[in-house]
Amino acid sequence: MLFKQVQSVFIILVISTYIPPLVSRCHSSYITTCDTFEDIKNKNLKELIVGSTQLSYYKNKMTTVRLDDVITTKMKILMIIRRIKHLEKCKLKKYSSIHMDLLILYGNVIPKIQISQFPIMSVKKFSLVHNKIQEIEVGALRNHRIIDLDLSENQLSRIKNGALPVSKFMRIITIKSNELELIEPGSLHPHLRVLNLDQNKLKHLNNVLDNLLKLEELTLSHNKFSTLPNLTNLKYLKIVDVSFNELVSIKYDSFKHMNLLQVVNLESNKICNSEVLQHLPVSTRRRPLIFSLAMNRLKQVNLEQCRLKYVIFIRYGNLWDCEKARVIPLNLTLQESRCSLEYYSSGQVPYCIDYSSFNLSSNTSQWEKIIKKFHDSIRENSEKIGCDLVY
Ligand SMILES: *[C@@H]1O[C@H](CO)[C@@H](O)[C@H](O)[C@H]1NC(C)=O
Ligand SMILES: *[C@@H]1O[C@H](CO)[C@@H](O)[C@H](O)[C@H]1NC(C)=O
Ligand SMILES: *[C@@H]1O[C@H](CO)[C@@H](O)[C@H](O)[C@H]1NC(C)=O
Ligand SMILES: *[C@@H]1O[C@H](CO)[C@@H](O)[C@H](O)[C@H]1NC(C)=O
Repeated sequence: MLFKQVQSVFIILVISTYIPPLVSRCHSSYITTCDTFEDIKNKNLKELIVGSTQLSYYKNKMTTVRLDDVITTKMKILMIIRRIKHLEKCKLKKYSSIHMDLLILYGNVIPKIQISQFPIMSVKKFSLVHNKIQEIEVGALRNHRIIDLDLSENQLSRIKNGALPVSKFMRIITIKSNELELIEPGSLHPHLRVLNLDQNKLKHLNNVLDNLLKLEELTLSHNKFSTLPNLTNLKYLKIVDVSFNELVSIKYDSFKHMNLLQVVNLESNKICNSEVLQHLPVSTRRRPLIFSLAMNRLKQVNLEQCRLKYVIFIRYGNLWDCEKARVIPLNLTLQESRCSLEYYSSGQVPYCIDYSSFNLSSNTSQWEKIIKKFHDSIRENSEKIGCDLVY
């Protein structure tokens, strides 16, 4: 009798360990999460995540997907992570009744964004970060009503005119960390407020910015600009970041007409002139303008006519002439940034160059080496000071 009982418990145990896990591997809490597309049983979800941020075995789970099989008129949030290896075209092209808050595709394989792969609909934030995108077909996103579009971490080298949305609702475009060399004029909608093209290979933006009359933030950091793009028409700019480029000079009137400016970051270029400081816009601003020319090639700066009351000037890491650096009037240091002051007072970083000890006319490559050494030693020490242009 006893033996029999034990045996049956044993059998139940064996059976229960060999029953496959739940048929649908979706997990519902505040949002439904499914491991694969096959697992989705409920077709009326408002919020859905397919895939996983964990890397294990994801390649086996990547499939061909058609988005109109997944997106419904009720859906507000959809994230697909590492599950698409081929994105098929939708049957119906237009879904005027779909209004989504968030559509995120991450870690999928979509080399070319083609017409009809995404049903035409309205999406507040549309993120296509990290999907191996090399090309966007003209028209593929043109009629989508998107407010905030992010195409970062892909392999785009060119944006064709007509590839991006032309919707008047377009406000933010981010195309960071791609291989962009060219954006065709007319590609960006004039209602755009924020444009971020950080970490690309851009040398110029000929006529691309001309019509962006409402632009407030422009980020072109870590590119290959040797001259500042023409910003004449961009009167509402608040933040301009062209740090880590190859700018050699700044025209004196580059920012003159921008009365709303808050931050200009020109850090880590090769700028030798500073007349721009005397022609910054003066407005009845409450906050001072933060203007960084850190880690450039200024030898001296004439601050006499600067209206520095309204400007926090960040100047560490320039090739100041030791002879002339002493002459900068003390009363102006009040308007310098905390960073610059810490650099100068730390005693750990070089802050000027004794030009009389070099014969600069003799050898430019030798001079470049000296500059590099000067900047390297400042960077090495900058962690100790822990200061950065923060905004
Ligand atoms: C910059 O753009 C403005 C307006 O489009 C134009 O009038 C001006 O000539 C341009 N400047 C340069 C240096 O190209
Ligand atoms: C700074 O001091 C110099 C003389 O010491 C004076 O001529 C100049 O007006 C002062 N500048 C400011 C901005 O107060
Ligand atoms: C600097 O180098 C130039 C070119 O090599 C030479 O003509 C000049 O005499 C040098 N000047 C000094 C002060 O050594
Ligand atoms: C300039 O200096 C570098 C190294 O300091 C040297 O290799 C090079 O030959 C020099 N060039 C000339 C033209 O003197």
